[in-house]
Amino acid sequence: MKKILITGGAGFIGSHVVRLFVNKYPDYKIFNLDKLTYAGNLENLKDIESKSNYKFVKGDITDAHFINNLFQEEKFDSVIHLAAESHVDRSISNPLEFVQTNVIGTVNLLNAAKEIWMGNIGLPTSDIRPHLFYHVSTDEVYGSLGDEGLFTEETSYDPHSPYSASKAASDHFVRAYFDTYNLPVVISNCSNNYGPNHFPEKLIPLCIHNIKNNKPLPIYGKGENVRDWLFVEDHANAIDVIFHNAKLGSTYNIGGHNEWTNIDVIRLLCKIMDKKLGRAEGENEKLITFVKDRAGHDLRYAIDSTKLQNELGWKPSLQFEEGLAKTVDWYLANEEWLTQVTSGNYQKYYEQQYVAR
Ligand code: NAD
Ligand code: DAU
Repeated sequence: MKKILITGGAGFIGSHVVRLFVNKYPDYKIFNLDKLTYAGNLENLKDIESKSNYKFVKGDITDAHFINNLFQEEKFDSVIHLAAESHVDRSISNPLEFVQTNVIGTVNLLNAAKEIWMGNIGLPTSDIRPHLFYHVSTDEVYGSLGDEGLFTEETSYDPHSPYSASKAASDHFVRAYFDTYNLPVVISNCSNNYGPNHFPEKLIPLCIHNIKNNKPLPIYGKGENVRDWLFVEDHANAIDVIFHNAKLGSTYNIGGHNEWTNIDVIRLLCKIMDKKLGRAEGENEKLITFVKDRAGHDLRYAIDSTKLQNELGWKPSLQFEEGLAKTVDWYLANEEWLTQVTSGNYQKYYEQQYVAR
């Protein structure tokens, strides 16, 4: 049985990747390693937790000793690395935590993989393809676009936030391990995801939560920033395709050619939720509140995923309107999940956010 380590599997995207792999590949044993920070939630995996090819391991990727022991014990065949601090606003108030998890944590995993696959000398082995270290990264490493153009795999890195700087650093380390030690790696850089299990600090789930509770919808600046939205299950499918078919040492951009200004996303969401909540047309839009802009706010992200589509045949399955309606349905049907994740420190975090603006 192939042993695959997925890190960050209790988080938003990780939970969809773990579910896909556990259900689709009964001959793989999937290990989900997660620290269960505020963003990790085992409820996200309730439906597959008793499957015999799934195992949860609670642990911290910044703890090198723990990571080395785990790799020595389990001798994983491959790694799909998603664990990270993922929220740009949190990176602005606490950059060091992002360096610890996203940079040091990634290097700890690279070292442990190198050790068990190649020994401590780090010489290339003759047959490295059975192993793969897959790093799941973001389009934010490319920086910000003007009105025209798309990020390609050749676009130079130009990160602006502490979050994107930490992800860019981790991407560079992954490539450095390929170039220096011949560690079998692949990287993908994806655009903004949305869908079930998304923690309600990010724009779409935060606004769904606030519309439901008749609270203000905070739009940074004028709401003119553009993001390129992809349904999370389409990202998980792309990860599956890349994991199984990518050329070693390569990079793939993932995105749905689906650019929206923030204000248009929220207007569409308001409209969908007017209907679903039985409110008068235009009622939810009254909640839109323009607030102070995010520091260093990137203007526009837009991904060119032609390489992934042409080389590996992946394409997104859902139109945005359909995916957004599906997402709203999930949040309305999972009230308990929302209540659980917004209890505890959630309220405190938000009070601090708004004082800071
Ligand atoms: P998330 O914040 O929802 O989940 C992150 C998970 O990592 C959580 O389960 C958390 O408990 C775990 N984690 C955090 N620190 C850890 C540590 N030190 N040790 C072990 N586990 C730890 O994030 P997400 O949105 O699902 O993003 C997953 C990955 O995909 C990240 O690497 C992110 O950079 C990347 N990504 C996200 C998006 C997006 O739109 N959300 C887009 C492109 C790429
Ligand atoms: O592009 C991929 C990235 O997308 C991922 O790497 C990140 O992990 C993920 O968090 C996401 O980053 P963004 O900063 O783009 O996502 P967020 O949902 O925080 O913000 C989306 C846009 O909405 C952005 O322009 C900021 C704006 N925004 C966000 C929040 C939370 C608001 O206007 N109001 C808000 O309250």
